[in-house]
Amino acid sequence: MTAADAQEFYGRWARLYDLLARRTPGIPRLRSRVADACRLEPGDTVVEMGCGTGANLPYLRERVGPAGTVVGIDFTRPVLERARESTAAYDNVHVVRGDATQPPLGSLGDETDVDALLATFVVGMLEDPAGAVDDWCELVGPDGHVVLANAARSDAWYGPPVNAVFRAIVVLSTPPTTKLRYADDPTRRLDEKIDVAHARLRDRATAIADETHVFGVVRLTGGRLEDGPAGGSSDRNE
Ligand SMILES: C[S@@+](CC[C@H](N)C(=O)[O-])C[C@H]1O[C@@H](n2cnc3c(N)ncnc32)[C@H](O)[C@@H]1O
Repeated sequence: MTAADAQEFYGRWARLYDLLARRTPGIPRLRSRVADACRLEPGDTVVEMGCGTGANLPYLRERVGPAGTVVGIDFTRPVLERARESTAAYDNVHVVRGDATQPPLGSLGDETDVDALLATFVVGMLEDPAGAVDDWCELVGPDGHVVLANAARSDAWYGPPVNAVFRAIVVLSTPPTTKLRYADDPTRRLDEKIDVAHARLRDRATAIADETHVFGVVRLTGGRLEDGPAGGSSDRNE
């Protein structure tokens, strides 16, 4: 999927996506858990890459409070408009148009010190997901937290039916949706990108969360960045 395909697709389906992003059973709980994994304190600054219609932003705002700062970055205008509308009441939530692989944080001032960064359902759309994770870890720096959540095929015993539904969703939501046969299975490509991104985060950070949610289909990895070599135990929760 090219950047132009992604913008065209999410731009056209922004309203429907927003509904699914906020109302799909299991997803609000996941968003709350993702925000918890950011380990935010009141007054912190948190950046969401590929924030879409802003479904995570209220959970982040709740955790950083009125003295904190929430920045959502996305490159698709119509989804950003929805994110802006839904957060208009908060003057410390900023929704910025930009590329998650080259985030325009300078526009918020050179002093921007990022305490945590999250990206939910985004790395599968990037050309170089591991490179993006590296850049995000650099952006956050020592003691900061980076959290990824992504849908990928489940390894659980009840996986086959869940995976069949998941594959149908991926095929329908991977432009061009009218194409019935792909040279390369989009679900497999997505799985590979997600695997590589989560593995890179585990390499770079000390794990604070390594979990699956929503029938094993959503993987959540959260890490704290250290000065020295990373590694450590994780909380596992199926
Ligand atoms: C599946 S949606 C996820 C939205 C949101 N994170 C959520 O959890 O609902 C993916 C979003 O990533 C955005 N996106 C994909 N690649 C991007 C990039 N390189 N830079 C900025 N946004 C990107 C798309 O525009 C889309 O809004």
